[in-house]
Amino acid sequence: MKVGVLISGRGSNLKSLLDACATPDFPAQIVTVISNRPGAGGLDHARAAGVAAETIDHKDFNGREAFEAEVTKALEAAGVDLLCLAGFMRVVSAGFVRHWQGRMINIHPSLLPLFPGLDTHARALEAGVRLHGCSVHYVNEEVDGGPIIGQAAVPVLPGDDPAGLAARVLTAEHRLYPACLRLVAEGKVRCRDGRVAISADFDPSERLFSPPLED
Ligand code: GRF
Repeated sequence: MKVGVLISGRGSNLKSLLDACATPDFPAQIVTVISNRPGAGGLDHARAAGVAAETIDHKDFNGREAFEAEVTKALEAAGVDLLCLAGFMRVVSAGFVRHWQGRMINIHPSLLPLFPGLDTHARALEAGVRLHGCSVHYVNEEVDGGPIIGQAAVPVLPGDDPAGLAARVLTAEHRLYPACLRLVAEGKVRCRDGRVAISADFDPSERLFSPPLED
């Protein structure tokens, strides 16, 4: 499966996807990386991995649709089958979503549907949740609202601040996103009628409690 990745910044999730794709037998290959911000750190990760990387600066276009048309043109020229958003900080239009429907996934730093949008870690601390985490989901027209492919949970610990909690979640993101990409690329996950169907095997005894339970 040929994958395109859209980024806006440091690109640590992109790096985790590049590393996964470089392992033997991984069922996906990143063919192009596009940043809407010049100088995004993630562009260097792509180039270091020998992957084509370019900037398409949204500020150079007259409106969202014109910017997105250029992005789609570049992705299609690279033969992209699946689009991964990885810290891409632009809301995408309904037309872009329709074009890539069922072929566009995103990682979000919360256990959706809790805390869509920005500042998820501060909001999780404010809400007093004991578990926080990240989600990989198909992108639909609702911001951070599409069908969920996978989630990883981390504990919220006493004394956590937003930065510390973000770092713990990010470590989980770097494991979750490649795992979800693998499931999608292997055809074990499909999006049908707005819901995700998963055909992978899981051990139902694997459960997570925070704080841990005593035996
Ligand atoms: C990640 O926390 C991701 O979940 C969110 O934006 C952040 C991007 O980080 N959408 P990076 O650029 O992948 O390091």
